[in-house]
Amino acid sequence: MFAPRFFHVSYKYILKPLAFQFDPETVHDAMIRFASSLGQFPFAQRVLSACFAYTNPALEQTIHGIHFANPVGLSAGFDKNAEIINAIAAVGFGFTEVGSITGEPCTGNPKPRLWRLPKSKAIMVWYGLKNDGCVAIAKRLRYTQFPVPVGTSIARTNDATTVDIHAGIHDYTKAFRELSNIGAYTTVNISCPNTCGGEPFTSPERLEKLLTALDEIPSAKPIFLKLPADISFTDADLLVAVARKHRVHGFVVSNLTKHHHAQTIRQHEITPAMKGGISGEPTRDLSNALIAHLFRAVRTEYVIIGVGGIFSASDAYDKIRHGASLVQLITGLIFEGPQLVGEINNGLAKLLIKDGYTNISNAVGSAVTPLELCQNQCSSSQSVE
Ligand SMILES: Cc1cc2nc3c(=O)[nH]c(=O)nc-3n(C[C@H](O)[C@H](O)[C@H](O)COP(=O)(O)O)c2cc1C
Repeated sequence: MFAPRFFHVSYKYILKPLAFQFDPETVHDAMIRFASSLGQFPFAQRVLSACFAYTNPALEQTIHGIHFANPVGLSAGFDKNAEIINAIAAVGFGFTEVGSITGEPCTGNPKPRLWRLPKSKAIMVWYGLKNDGCVAIAKRLRYTQFPVPVGTSIARTNDATTVDIHAGIHDYTKAFRELSNIGAYTTVNISCPNTCGGEPFTSPERLEKLLTALDEIPSAKPIFLKLPADISFTDADLLVAVARKHRVHGFVVSNLTKHHHAQTIRQHEITPAMKGGISGEPTRDLSNALIAHLFRAVRTEYVIIGVGGIFSASDAYDKIRHGASLVQLITGLIFEGPQLVGEINNGLAKLLIKDGYTNISNAVGSAVTPLELCQNQCSSSQSVE
């Protein structure tokens, strides 16, 4: 009964035009309430699965002992309070990342804080890490069995009290400790562009301090570091060098871009009232280039989760061929609809066959020239293939 075409047309011509009439945050909150109630009913989940989910053994991978039925995950920021995990699994995502979750409850930045840029296939985000805080979210999740692997994204509470470096580290460690036994992996989000005090832990010295503090807290879960979209390769290398000394298993590449004047952004969609980071298409090439750069540097040593501007199977496959073992999306889900997840997985299976691969893991990094060849052939250090 997998019927993506029907849902594609219904979303494009009915649901999306209707939803896009309303304020984006109001629609987001309504979707969370709707998906959360659907997730309470096993029958509704079975119907959703039958309509949306696509399964194929060629898409399965086990990474750091975690079994992923497919490589497509929901990125951090959509299910901020971990309320819709069942519905997310039912529509066919292979995993989900909840949060970002902070040490203290956080109301986020003043509204409005979310704007659609439809022509640019992007969203301007100035949420500022709105979430219920680690204690309430841990209480919600503890003793729960999840239908898919769940990553818990942690970040620093967005207020003036955590701007001091020691207070900021204390806030991260509180969330890390509280969530240390919940879910399959942890992402340490050091790259939210919308917080009071900026992104202090993207400096190697401060990251060193943060990771040293996290090392002291026992946790069996793999740890990922979420990198900024706009970081230079040189600065990314410095962060990788710090990560190598600590308990880090991979990188999420990458967060929102702060560049409002990128060529991919239709400038007429941006008004002076808007602020924040930008998701979607404007992040795609930035994240692909960084994924390839990191893959070239770390190969199989670290796992890369690729995120930014995935709207189709070929976008997801590009990230995988640039070096991502897993991919995530948010903006694609909002612009294309929930059937996109099954469409991507179906498309990935076809692309694997076309390229002669038997499993998605065989395609990881297949577009990346090895470092030695690159040094001889690539004309610029930012070259990808
Ligand atoms: C509405 C919204 C909220 C977001 N909130 C978070 C967040 O809390 N933590 C985080 O690490 N990333 C957050 N992000 C960034 C996404 O996880 C992702 O890195 C970025 O949007 C690029 O992916 P996309 O183009 O598929 O949306 C948010 C993105 C959006 C659109």
